[in-house]
Parts: sequence; structure tokens; C-alpha cells
Amino acid sequence: MRKGDGEVKFGYFDDRDREYVITQPDTPLPWINYLGCEAYFGIISNTAGGYSFYRDARLRRLTRYRYNNVPFDFGGRYVYLRDNESKEFWSPSWQPTRHELKDYTCRHGMGYSVIGSTYAGIEAHTRYFVPLGENLEIWQLTVTNGRATKARLSGFASIEFCLWDAQDDATNFQRNFNTGQVEVEDGVIYHKTEYRERRNHFAYFACSEPVGFDTQREAFLGRYRSWDKPVTVEAGALTNSIAHGWSPMGAHQVSLELEPGETKEIVFVLGYHENPVEDKFDPPGSQTINKKTVKPVIAKYLDSAEADAAFERLRSYWEKTLGVFQVNTPDPHTNRMVNIWNAYQCMATFNMSRSASFYESGIGRGLGFRDSNQDLLGFVHMVPSRARERILDLAATQLPTGGAYHQYQPLTKRGNNDIGGGFNDDPHWLIVGVSAYLKETGDWSILDEAVQYDNEPGSEQPLYEHLQRSFNYTLTRLGPHGLPLIGRADWNDCLNLNCFSDTPGQSFQTTTNKDGKVAESVFIAGLFVYAGRELAAIAEKRGLEAEAKKYIGETEKMLAVINEHGWDGEWFLRAYDDFGRKIGSKECEEGKIFIESNGFCALAGIGLEDGKAASAMDAVGKHLATKHGIVVQQPAYSKYYLELGEISSYPPGYKENAGIFCHVNPWVMIGETRLGRGDAAHDYYSRINPSAREEIGDLHRCEPYVYAQMIAGKDAPTFGEAKNSWLTGTAAWNYYAIVQWILGIRTTLEGLEIAPVIPKNWPGFTATRRFRGVAYEVAIERRGDGNSIALTVDGEAIEGNIVKAPGDGRGTVMVKGILS
Ligand code: BGC
Ligand code: NOJ
Repeated sequence: MRKGDGEVKFGYFDDRDREYVITQPDTPLPWINYLGCEAYFGIISNTAGGYSFYRDARLRRLTRYRYNNVPFDFGGRYVYLRDNESKEFWSPSWQPTRHELKDYTCRHGMGYSVIGSTYAGIEAHTRYFVPLGENLEIWQLTVTNGRATKARLSGFASIEFCLWDAQDDATNFQRNFNTGQVEVEDGVIYHKTEYRERRNHFAYFACSEPVGFDTQREAFLGRYRSWDKPVTVEAGALTNSIAHGWSPMGAHQVSLELEPGETKEIVFVLGYHENPVEDKFDPPGSQTINKKTVKPVIAKYLDSAEADAAFERLRSYWEKTLGVFQVNTPDPHTNRMVNIWNAYQCMATFNMSRSASFYESGIGRGLGFRDSNQDLLGFVHMVPSRARERILDLAATQLPTGGAYHQYQPLTKRGNNDIGGGFNDDPHWLIVGVSAYLKETGDWSILDEAVQYDNEPGSEQPLYEHLQRSFNYTLTRLGPHGLPLIGRADWNDCLNLNCFSDTPGQSFQTTTNKDGKVAESVFIAGLFVYAGRELAAIAEKRGLEAEAKKYIGETEKMLAVINEHGWDGEWFLRAYDDFGRKIGSKECEEGKIFIESNGFCALAGIGLEDGKAASAMDAVGKHLATKHGIVVQQPAYSKYYLELGEISSYPPGYKENAGIFCHVNPWVMIGETRLGRGDAAHDYYSRINPSAREEIGDLHRCEPYVYAQMIAGKDAPTFGEAKNSWLTGTAAWNYYAIVQWILGIRTTLEGLEIAPVIPKNWPGFTATRRFRGVAYEVAIERRGDGNSIALTVDGEAIEGNIVKAPGDGRGTVMVKGILS
């Protein structure tokens, strides 16, 4: 499947094993996977590049990685094999030595990757994964001698330690070249930089059959050499170096003498461990790490039977997690994404928010408030207890004003002062996130949890009050037309209407030099209506009828304002700038129509009755939709507009300046379903579905198994090229759009609603949904062209389309729906 052979695929989907199998190492970009799903994480590329960290990619980075390197992806979990007779050495994962390999494959699966190949008759692959519940990763290297003669080989495995704070590690060399420290005991390498003083954690790298090691990078690589040609691997012997300062690393050597046909497995374990402060050293008073509690863990996982058992547990975990929702439709791309990859990506976005990928350096951003709340839409059904914890963490960073820190650092769970708050859409996303949680779980107790404001002890109030403050935040921040003031930005981080920046290097997100009393956002108005109705429904369920009425009253008022000042004749306006001029209007020269306000208003059901929603969706179809997805706005901004901010800083067709921002496409999909237009909804869904784009791998370039944040828009020379894969709200929103609105299996406060709006030519579909302890087996059959549905539950016809909990202990319920 080489480029130029007419094929543009770089691998294939193995749906049965839930893997994507890459068959060519030089993919257009590194195609990555995530290891770990709880506290210990790794990023791994298809050629074994990447790094690991504990909880926080900035503050607890275990291994070093150089972003924006040349070549792109260099540095990682590298294994080398050396033929001690021919003295030749190579890497079964292609990088770093880049030999011409036979049968190279990288199988990226659910929480693991297996990378290997055959070279000179030696078949070798390494399985990398993080066992559930442990702060470590396992590499299982399997080597088979396919030759007719005995093979005398050496194996090497290497990683480069990071001195914990990845930002400091990449900049503060005058200090850091002096601080590195390691210990080596029983063949295990312990990285303990700063352990002697204020840290009580260390990393380790262990091997099941070590015969030699190195811990100083220069000893391992040799002067002026890189990972493709370590002097020690070339010579066939490590030097047992002990790092003092400079660059601590871990390398192990193993001996592999293999008879013809013989297979041998070696296990490596890389991990993170913390000791109680008072028990750091052994013997007490010494400077030697106390290894009493870590040694049994290391010994356990160096045993390959234990490693295999941990791998099986990981497989079952994913079987169960994905089993919460499974579907079978006539479209294989829908099935594959919903059943496997989109759900899997939702786990990654939940875990990382936007912090660590191959495009997010792990040092730039913590967890986004708006981002993490939206991520819950695609995650909450998989592990509701973790969603609950996340909601409480997020709410604890909310400010007493109801506003929110835009981001928080996962290790400290405190709001980031660097970026602060003032993004006026932020607070409403908390309502959206909490509502999704309530609909999934019915766990009303979360609303009574006492949660701090700004992490201040003593400021605790019930979570419900946080939601009230979120809503009220906007009521006290209305602009001249009665629309919400935009603040630093709304969903579109690059629409910075109070910034007016003419100074190079200023952050568009934190620079504010206008008083912020004029620029308004129609998008926030739509979000306010949406969130207000969600909050009203919650209040009503809590028996707070007067309050519910108040919320509805406020949303009605806002609807009137939208109708009067937020409608442009054929579509919804986007905003008003600091001069009170329209943005996203036919009167504008550029940026006449935007996706966000139109998509979100339609999604919120605004204008369904009076034709505005239909008109807006038609306009989006006419002006913004392309074959590769829907662009943010048209016409693209061709020059920098001081009063608009970052949006006009991007060349036309990229990012927020008329790129195809995949996150917001589902708003239009949902809008189309609200109009009953299933063909259009699923068509938009398919245009950006990465699996459906696999065939155009040379154009798309990013992984075909996960969404990217952006696809270049029609104004860009690279129209159709995806960028910034993995960490994007695209994951949750597409999942939510296809599952809850197109397939129409929707969680509500009352029960499971079944309201499919599927393409006309689908004869139906079946699905399994585990919901609040009951397995719903859903079968939809199309008998007519429309979207009216008649439901039976275990053979009995029901009124309406909400399936209530059986309440009589039935564990499985058959739901049959006839569409006509
Ligand atoms: C990007 C946005 C991003 C923002 C904040 C901008 O440069 O275009 O997508 O949200 O930075 O990090
Ligand atoms: C990426 C950010 O993470 C997200 O919060 C924002 O909405 C989009 N960029 C659009 O600007």
C-alpha cells in the first residue's frame, strides 16, 4: 500500500479486534495512540515515539519528548536488536534506525499498541500498555528466530527521563544539567532527580533479564550521535554508566540466543512511584530511595504471565466500557466510529482535555472549563463516577461571580491565573455538563454536594447554587441590544472583540483593552436559552416551580431579543463588535455568515416554529457546507481586522478563519435532526467522519480512526487536509450528535427517549444501550419516509417515545420502534 501505487491508505481497520492496523511506518504524520486511562498516561506513535507522564503532562513528565523536532517524531520507547554475528542493528518499530523492514505493522488498540516487523529473518514486536489501576507501563518484547540457524542477538530498550516539570526541563539548562540523579539496584534503574529535597516521587525502568544498563545519555549515544546510531548498540555493549547531572536516561541490554523457530519474551516496566514523606529513605537518614513498596510491584509485572493477565483485564475493561452502547446500522463507518473509535476518543478527550497530544505540548494548557464540560457529553455514559468527580472539580474552580477560570491544572486542580476568566460562555457549559450527568444517571445527589468557589475553603455551596450563578452571570452582563456581552471570547476563542491588539506576541485571549460593555454574542444568547431550559427542567424536577418559571421567563426574553437583534433575514447574526456593528451579516464585506450562532440556535430549537431554523440551516448548506465539512464562516477574512482579533490573524481557510472546525459541525447535524432532515444530518456526519475519509489518507493526513480539530477549508490551498488530531470537542459532539440525535437514542431526565432521525434509505438499525442498570435492546424498522415513531416495550405499545425504567427488576428490555 505504498503511495504512488494508486492506494492512499496506510493501513486498515480490524473491527473485530478493535484495532487500526498501520502497515506503512512513514504515515503522512505520526499516527498516535494513548496508553493509560486513569492517572498514568503515555502517548505512543506508530513508530514508538512519544512520552509518558503521571496525571499532568506539564508538572509530572516522566520521559522527555522534543516537540516540533526534525524528523517530526523522534524520541520515544525505543527497542533495538543487534545481530552479534553480522554486527548489524535495527529497530523493529522502524524508528529510530529506519531500516527497510518486512511486514511492519502497528496495531493501535484500546489502550495498547503493538508495533513490530521482521528483519533479517528475525520477527519482533513490542506490546505497550498500562495495566488498570497501576502507575506504570509494560513493554512486552517478543522475538522469534525465523532463520534456519541459531541467532545470537542482543536487545536494547531505552527511554530518556524528563526532569519532571516539562516546561522547566526544556528551558532551564544552566540548572538542570547539574541536578540529574539515579540509582541502580538489582538491575532496576531509578530516576530520582530532586528526590533528595522537595519531591517524594521517582520513576523506574526495569527489565526481566538485564545484563547491562546505561543511565547517562551521552554514554549510551556517544558524542554527536542520536538515537538512530547509539555507540553502545553499535558496539553491542552498554557501559553501566551512572548519571550525575546532564541527561539521565534508562537503557537495558538483554541477551537473546535463539534456536531456529524459538521465541523469547522480555518484559520491561517503566513506572512512577510515590513514597510517604516521612518514609522516603531506606535506611532512614540516608539518601537512598526506600524501595520497599515499589519492589513488589516491579517484580509482579516483570513476570510475563502477570503482564498477560493485566492485558486481559484491560481488554475486558474496554469490552465492558464500549458495551454500554453498541449499534448496527447500514453504514459501516457509523458503526465503527460509534462502537469503537469515537467512544475511545471521548475517553482520551475526557482524560486529557486539550493538554497533551502531538499538537498540544502538555505544557501549554491545563484542562479547559468549557472543553471538559462539553467532553462529558460523549463520556458520561462510559464511567459516570469519573464524570461526577470531574464536574465537582470543575465547579470548584468557578468564581463567586459565576464566571469561571478558563482552565485548571489537573495535578493541583486549581484555576490557572495565567489565563484567568472572562470567557462569557464558560459558565453555561457547567449547566450543560451537569444536565448530561443527571440525564445519564438520575443521580440527583450531585446537586447537593458542597462545592467551593475558586477553591477557597469556607466558600462551599451546593452544586445547584453554582448552576444558578452560572445562569445569573449572563443576566448581569447584557449589552446594548440586550444580548450577552462576549467578554474575552465565546466558544470561538479567536473572536476577540475587546482586544484590539497591534502588538506582536500579545495573547489574543488575555489582552483586553476595551471596557467590554458593547460587544455582544448571539452565540452566547443561543447557549443561554439552551442552558436556561435545561436548568428550568432541573429546577422543576426538584420541585422548584417558581424558579423554573423564572428561568423560562428569562429565556423567553432572550428569545425575543434574538428575534429582534440576532436575526439577519436569512440566518442568525454572529455578534456585535465594540462599535456596535454587526458581525456575520449580509451587510458585512467578509464574515457574512457564521456556523456557530446558526448551528447552536437550531440545536437549541430556536426558530423551529417560525421557519428561522430551517432558513438558517438552508443558508449554512448554501454558503458554508463543502465536501470536506462545514466551514466556520464565509467569506473568509482576507486581512487583519483589529476589532475582530485572532480570527482574522489566520490565513483564509485555516482554524477559526473559515477552516472546517469539526467541533461545531455536529451543531448543524443536530439542527438538521430538529428539522426532521435525517439525510442532511447524516450526510454532514459522513463528510467529516474520519473512517469515511480513510481512502483519502494522502489528503486527510491525520489518523483515520479519530477526529481532528480542523480540516482546511475551501479557501486554503490544502483544502481537505486535517490538523490537530485527537484532543478536540469534536469527539464528544459528534458522538452525541450521531447517538442521541441521528440514531435518536437520547437520555432525558425522565428516561430513555427513542426518536431517530435517520436517512430515508436506511431500513432501520439495532442497538444495545445499558442505561441506569437496564439493558435496552432497541430495534428500529422503517416503514415510511418520516420520523414518527410507534414504540413497543417488551411487546406492549407505549404512549410517546420515552421508555421509562421497568421498575420490576427486568434486566433486559426489548424496545421496538416503527418509523413511518
Ligand atoms: C486557537 C484556538 C484555541 C486558542 C486558545 C488559538 O490560537 O486557534 O483554537 O482555542 O488559541 O488556546
Ligand atoms: C479550541 C478550544 O479548546 C475550544 O474551547 C474552543 O471552543 C475552540 N478552540 C474554538 O476556538
